[in-house]
Amino acid sequence: MFRRVRQVYLDHNATTPVARQVRRRMAEVLNKHPGNPSSTYHLGRDAASVIVRARAEVAAAINAQPMEIVFTSGASEGNNHVLRMLAARAAPTRNRLVTTPAEHSSVRAVAEELAGMGVEVTWLPVNRHGRIDTADLAAVLDRRVFLVSCMLANNELGTLNPVAELAALARESGALFHADCVQALGKVPVDVRALGVDYATFSAHKAFGPKGVGVLYVREGAPCHAFISGGHQEQGRRAGTESTHNIAGCGAAFARVPDLLARAATVAARRDTFLARLTALKPDLVLNSPRDGVVANTLNVRFPGVRNADLLSFLDVHGVSVSAGSACSAEGGKPSHVLTAIGLTEAEAQQSLRLSLSVDTTIADIEYAADLIERFVRGEAPAVWLVSPAQVDAAFLDGPRNYILDVRLDIERRLMRGMPNSHEIPFLRFSRWLDGLPRNRNILIVCSTGVDASIVAYALKARGFPQVGVLLGGLVAWRVAHPALYRERAGSHIVAVS
Ligand SMILES: Cc1ncc(COP(=O)(O)O)c(C=O)c1O
Repeated sequence: MFRRVRQVYLDHNATTPVARQVRRRMAEVLNKHPGNPSSTYHLGRDAASVIVRARAEVAAAINAQPMEIVFTSGASEGNNHVLRMLAARAAPTRNRLVTTPAEHSSVRAVAEELAGMGVEVTWLPVNRHGRIDTADLAAVLDRRVFLVSCMLANNELGTLNPVAELAALARESGALFHADCVQALGKVPVDVRALGVDYATFSAHKAFGPKGVGVLYVREGAPCHAFISGGHQEQGRRAGTESTHNIAGCGAAFARVPDLLARAATVAARRDTFLARLTALKPDLVLNSPRDGVVANTLNVRFPGVRNADLLSFLDVHGVSVSAGSACSAEGGKPSHVLTAIGLTEAEAQQSLRLSLSVDTTIADIEYAADLIERFVRGEAPAVWLVSPAQVDAAFLDGPRNYILDVRLDIERRLMRGMPNSHEIPFLRFSRWLDGLPRNRNILIVCSTGVDASIVAYALKARGFPQVGVLLGGLVAWRVAHPALYRERAGSHIVAVS
């Protein structure tokens, strides 16, 4: 009865699928290398050799020495550690951190936390594409700065920063330099020596590796205290039995970097095709990403007059995954901090969409997504009402014209209480209950995460129901958006229709 929806993934800056070679290597480690790398007998030595290989692969990909590589749980851990560690050892006369408002939240949040603890934090201005000017860094550098932290490629805009020049300036003034290189890996060459950085952070899952593993590069001689104490692992810097399969997957992902770089021009050409198509269908489209000095895969655009939350949901219903930064997240519709840092108003940020491609994105994928965007922009989208969790407040729940239809499975209902005043039918046999639903009310369909609801929505539309809506992100997102409402009223006045 239901056509399988084509899936087009255009959110590679959020994460990437694990590459086949990476999966193969991880499976081999899980199947054949069960030892603890610290054990001295042959099984341990065998597991240790897995890590030696991965460390060499990572080092080769970024022109580092293997001993300069520390495996972490991801870039957030590395970013947190560099800032906290260096702040903790900073002399009272060198108590200033310089960073930018466009950094990833794992840098920004720590900088804010340190500011609250008495560290002087200087936020460099960024231009309208999120780029730092070297002159602005030169103007604030002095002998009081202990660290400059500036990302190489921005995750929302793709903008590249002149890290080599920035790091050289920092070095002249005796400050250390950290670059978050997460979004640059496999998109532009990352040579830590040529960049001249003291610390660099990476995440395997942004480059077709597994989640939960990353890399902190620490230049030989740069300070690095233990960030997890205990065993001697990672040269005593990060204790704990190594996640051998993840580390192996990380190494295999870094080993693919030259191949990814060789294909970057193809990705850039596809991104340009996409942009040309979008500009043709909406001539007032605004490019938030820069035209030059940008990674190949990222396109951040603003569609004046279009709410990104609505477009994102329409695309989602049709199998296309894109991101709007945090602009329409479940956390209360706050605009993306990067977009506001580049000067966009809240309303403009909420018209912006990030499309991030990969070497696997085809022209057919781009055409499919662009056709859908065209339909939406022309007002031809089917009239399934897309409701953000923030909209479903107490007034909405109690509104007499609204009819909340909960289509979760029994097991899901046991895990989480339902919305107050909702009506329950079981998802697996939903069609037998649809004809009895009220046609004169706004039916909002709710499931756990927002996926099953759209199937029921289209079934209702096919039966001629006039007002049918879907709760985006489902109950999980609604609970995040309205924690007090969930605590106080979830589970009350629920009617079982079936
Ligand atoms: C620029 C940047 N830095 C850091 C991170 C955090 O990486 P991880 O997911 O490995 O903690 C991300 C991920 O979104 C990122 O895009």
